[in-house]
Amino acid sequence: MGERIGVFDSGIGGLTVARHLLGLRGVEVLYVGDTARVPYGNRSPETIRRYARQVARYLVEQGIDVLVIACNTVSAVAAEEVRECAADIPVVDVLEPTVRVALRRTLGSVGIIGTRATITSGVYERLLHRWASMPLRTYGQSCPLFVPLVEEGWTEHPVTVQVAEHYLAPLRAAGVDTLILGCTHYPLLRPVLEQLLPGCTLVESGEAVCERLQQLGYQAAENGKKAPLTLYLTDVPDTALDSVLGQLRLPVVDVRHVRLPEYA
Ligand code: DGL
Repeated sequence: MGERIGVFDSGIGGLTVARHLLGLRGVEVLYVGDTARVPYGNRSPETIRRYARQVARYLVEQGIDVLVIACNTVSAVAAEEVRECAADIPVVDVLEPTVRVALRRTLGSVGIIGTRATITSGVYERLLHRWASMPLRTYGQSCPLFVPLVEEGWTEHPVTVQVAEHYLAPLRAAGVDTLILGCTHYPLLRPVLEQLLPGCTLVESGEAVCERLQQLGYQAAENGKKAPLTLYLTDVPDTALDSVLGQLRLPVVDVRHVRLPEYA
């Protein structure tokens, strides 16, 4: 087997990133979803850092060649800790690639939706303003109920539409032309988001991260061939997993239960 790409998220949302990586040639993807402790986004930075270190160390022990943080919350508050754990292994987080894509697409007004931890960190706004070559207006909005709704499989449920209407109202009022889906669970809500923000460009991390891996030397596979995916979950899989795998058109995957060692 070729290169091993380690990918992780607090739950199953990071599969929206992993699915893009399955199109790379000669790789296998090892994905950890910390489903026993999802969501991370309402927790303190200290707790998120501890969880992120534990998952990163586990993946490093599996002999990976590159580590992808498919979680905005971890990227926003714990990327440094993950890089320390990874030592010489290259680490790709979602922030820079996603911001670069948003800046290529926007006409000047960018909304960012994410977990409370991501939005409170202000990291997206800082990076957008640092790299923008034109005047830019940015609007951050935390959406703490979105991750539990996705993990429950309620991606198009009327309750989800109602919650989304509430969260998106300020962004609609501001007239954002581009919306960063600053949480890897949110692409699963795309139909609802598109319905509420017609004409707005939605930017998600998966494609941007895949581009970054190609810059690191990975190449697209020929004939749409898909790499094998092993899914390690820290809790038993529930029914939402099947619906998410179906929605993302992921091939049948090898799903395993993993007990993370209690690292400090
Ligand atoms: N997919 C994670 C992210 O990108 C969700 C974090 C959470 O568990 O709250 O932020």
